[in-house]
Order: sequence, then C-alpha cells, then structure tokens
Amino acid sequence: MPKVFITRNLPTDLTLLEKFASVEVWHERQPPTYEVLLSKVRSIDGLLCLLTDKIDKELIQAATNLRVISQMAVGYDNIDVSAATARKIPIGNTPGVLTDATADLTWALLMASARRIVEADKFTRALLWHTWEPDLLLGADITGATLGIIGFGRIGQAVARRASGFDMPIIYTSRNPCNKELENRLNAQFVSLETLLKQSDFVTIHTPLTSDTYHLFGRTQFEMMKQSAILINTARGGIVNQDELYNALITNQIAGAAIDVTDPEPIPSNSPLLNLNNLVIAPHIGSASYKTRKKMADMAIENLIAGLKGEQLPYSVNSATLTQSD
Ligand code: NAP
Ligand code: GLV
Repeated sequence: MPKVFITRNLPTDLTLLEKFASVEVWHERQPPTYEVLLSKVRSIDGLLCLLTDKIDKELIQAATNLRVISQMAVGYDNIDVSAATARKIPIGNTPGVLTDATADLTWALLMASARRIVEADKFTRALLWHTWEPDLLLGADITGATLGIIGFGRIGQAVARRASGFDMPIIYTSRNPCNKELENRLNAQFVSLETLLKQSDFVTIHTPLTSDTYHLFGRTQFEMMKQSAILINTARGGIVNQDELYNALITNQIAGAAIDVTDPEPIPSNSPLLNLNNLVIAPHIGSASYKTRKKMADMAIENLIAGLKGEQLPYSVNSATLTQSD
C-alpha cells in the first residue's frame, strides 16, 4: 500500500483514504516542524499538507517517492510549485468551496472595522457605557460608499455580490478585466490600482501572494488612499508591508484596517499592531465554518487519492505545466 502523511487532524472521515493507503496523521495541535516534515517525506508516496507547512525545494528533493502533494487550502504560496513540477509531482488545492465563507468573513471584518464593533464591545465590558451620547463611537458609513476590490477572482467577485444590498459602487483591479456582462451585473468598473486607491472608501485585497503581489501595499499606496478609508486583507499577510500598515494607522493616514492574515503567522507577541484600536485582527479564519472546512478536507483527500492512483487531480495547481513538460 502507498504511504501518506497528513500534517494535522482533519475535520472529516479518513475511511475511504485508508482503503487506498497506509495513513499517518500528525495529531499535535502545532504543525510538525520543518525537520520532522523533512524526515517524514523521505518515505511517503502522498502528502496532505496545510498552508502552515513549508514545502520547499529541499523538502521536495528529499521526498524521493512522492507522487502527489495535496494542500487543504486554495492558496499555495507555501509550496515551491516549480520544484514539484520539475519532479512531475502534481499539486492539488481546494478552490471554490471556501469562497463564500471567506467573502462572508471579509464582510464581517469590513463592518466590524467601519462600525468599531471590537472597540464597542471592549467599551461596554469595561462598564464605560453611562448614557447615550451623540458622538459616542462614531464610525464610517457603509451604504453608498465606494468599494475597491483588488484581485477580482472567485472571492473578490463573491465580496462584490454581497455589496449589492448596500448600494455600493464597485471599482476593481485585477490582472485582466472581466467581461462586460459580469461587470454590469456586479455594478463593477475596472480601474488602475492607483485610481482604486484614490477613490475607494473601503479597499479589500483578494489576490494570491506571488512575487508580483508581495508588499503590493507600502507607503506609496497608503499615501494614495483617502484618510477616511479602511483596508481589509483576508488574502495573505505578505501582500501588505506591515511596518507601513502600522505607520499608516498610527498617523491616521488611513482610518482603519481589518486583517485576517499577518506576516508572519501567528502575529508576534511584540508586534506594535497589537496595540492599535483602529485595527481589527483575526487569526486566519476566513474559511473557518464547519461545513467549509469539511468540504476542504474532502476535496484534499479526493486530490490525494487521484494522485496516488496516477490519475489527473480533480483540482490541480500545476496540471497545465505538468502536461507541457511531458
Ligand atoms: P482566484 O479565484 O484565483 O482569484 C485571485 C484573483 O487575483 C484573480 O482574478 C487573479 O487574476 C488576480 N491576481 C493575481 N495576481 C494579481 C496581481 N498581481 N494584481 C492584481 N490581481 C491579481 O483566487 P481566490 O479563490 O479568490 O483566492 C484568492 C486568495 O485568497 C488565495 O490565493 C488565498 O491566498 C486567499 N484566501 C485566504 C483565505 C483566508 O482564510 N483568509 C481563504 C481563502 C483564500 P488571474 O485570474 O489573471 O490570475
Ligand atoms: C486559506 O487561506 C486558503 O488559502 O485556503
């Protein structure tokens, strides 16, 4: 039987997988260290990993029997895709099933930041609520505000769909504009990044983390934004330069931010971001609903089994390049 290693307990049943493979699961709450993972991959045929696992060239080269890498996430910036493709190892991911949950969380963060929900909760629990006051905890209007979406793929478009109840004009930037019919349906207009930053009341990031998007947000981009604007990032921490985010928030260059992702993760205990009242931080829970996480785990297992059988992965990251290199 082929051997597989799963780097964490999964929220689903492994019975089907166990018919095809001898399965070892890492049961600790913390992920395996890089050294442990390196020793495990030397003898396995299939790996089911998470975004917390660094799957670099050295690890892939050490995994001499490896036939499939199945990631339980849509993003795969933790995996050296070229190194795996060079070894003809297919990589799977879990697109689509987490789109709605992540778009919902994006809206939760947008609204929490605009209406200062976390501050309001702390204020109330501190027994500071003495009376109704005309200027208590005022926040930003959402209805009618301009929503700027960076990266107009599955999640970016799902965020746009949810804006229709708030009468929000939508501007977006992406590698390419989408078709006019979709633009009309979503009330969305393609603009440059610069225009988007200058005109948006809310800016939300939905690109993958790549060499092009690493630190896409720095001082220049914050300086282009309205002082009343709010930034939401549920994509990847590395897309925003965090020192510049701190500067922008502490100097009120922008009004606020809400982030589900940081760089590194978890956020270090001495990060000055933890002291800011105009920042809402969540611990990377974009896809964290019961049904979504089960669907992601099932999809990752489906990919893993297909890879072990030598079949094309149903949800593949590198199938096009694997075919080209044949
Ligand atoms: P997707 O459908 O591939 O959408 C990404 C979009 O970004 C695509 O339209 C893509 O254009 C565009 N893009 C790529 N590079 C760009 C660049 N340099 N500038 C502007 N736009 C660019 O992916 P998705 O399913 O929406 O997921 C997006 C990301 O969200 C994932 O990669 C992941 O990192 C993150 N995520 C986070 C969570 C969470 O828990 N917080 C959950 C799910 C996903 P092309 O189509 O031309 O490539
Ligand atoms: C989560 O961040 C994912 O990429 O699925």
